[in-house]
Amino acid sequence: MTQKGKRPSESAVEQNVYKIFPNDLNSEYTVFGGLVMGLCDRTALIVAERHSGHACVTAAVDSLDFLAPAHSGETLVLKAAVNRAWRSSMEIGVHVAAENSFRGDARHVVSAYLTFVALDKNGAPRPVPAVLPETDEERRRYQEAEERRDARLKMREARKR
Ligand SMILES: CC(C)(COP(=O)(O)OP(=O)(O)OC[C@H]1O[C@@H](n2cnc3c(N)ncnc32)[C@H](O)[C@@H]1OP(=O)(O)O)[C@@H](O)C(=O)NCCC(=O)NCCS
Repeated sequence: MTQKGKRPSESAVEQNVYKIFPNDLNSEYTVFGGLVMGLCDRTALIVAERHSGHACVTAAVDSLDFLAPAHSGETLVLKAAVNRAWRSSMEIGVHVAAENSFRGDARHVVSAYLTFVALDKNGAPRPVPAVLPETDEERRRYQEAEERRDARLKMREARKR
């Protein structure tokens, strides 16, 4: 069944917060990267579920860039939105900032792009609604997502060979 499209704002996670405590740190006393990766995956999953209305799995992490360290006592603030959808797959972008919650200032620490696939009751990929970008920023992300998908699928084919 063909489904009508949905706007990115209908599924976006505006703010998922996580307070960093000492047990979240690596041996350099900055936040452990695996923790942030897990938070990105969970936050992006919610967007994929909201957009598709179905169970979803992570198919690939296209990129995850640690731009700056985050420290104990800071608050990680994650935002995530769907950039584009194809037949059964969706690209979700995640932005992570480290906030000093006393002062209110924040800096960008991580950017990530993840691909999720929606599944039917039998665990097979199922169709998802198209993404209908509204703002200039959403239209830019929509265009760039197609370029990332091309690169990703070429890599996938190359790995198979
Ligand atoms: C992701 C998965 C469902 C794809 O199944 P598949 O049999 O390869 O399905 P298909 O070849 O029909 O591809 C289905 C869609 O997934 C996309 N896809 C599959 N592998 C991909 C990959 N490595 N990267 C990006 N997209 C991928 C395809 O491009 C296709 O997208 P489209 O329908 O929008 O065109 C399957 O590989 C899987 O279950 N992987 C494990 C997922 C998992 O356990 N994740 C971690 C826990 S959540």
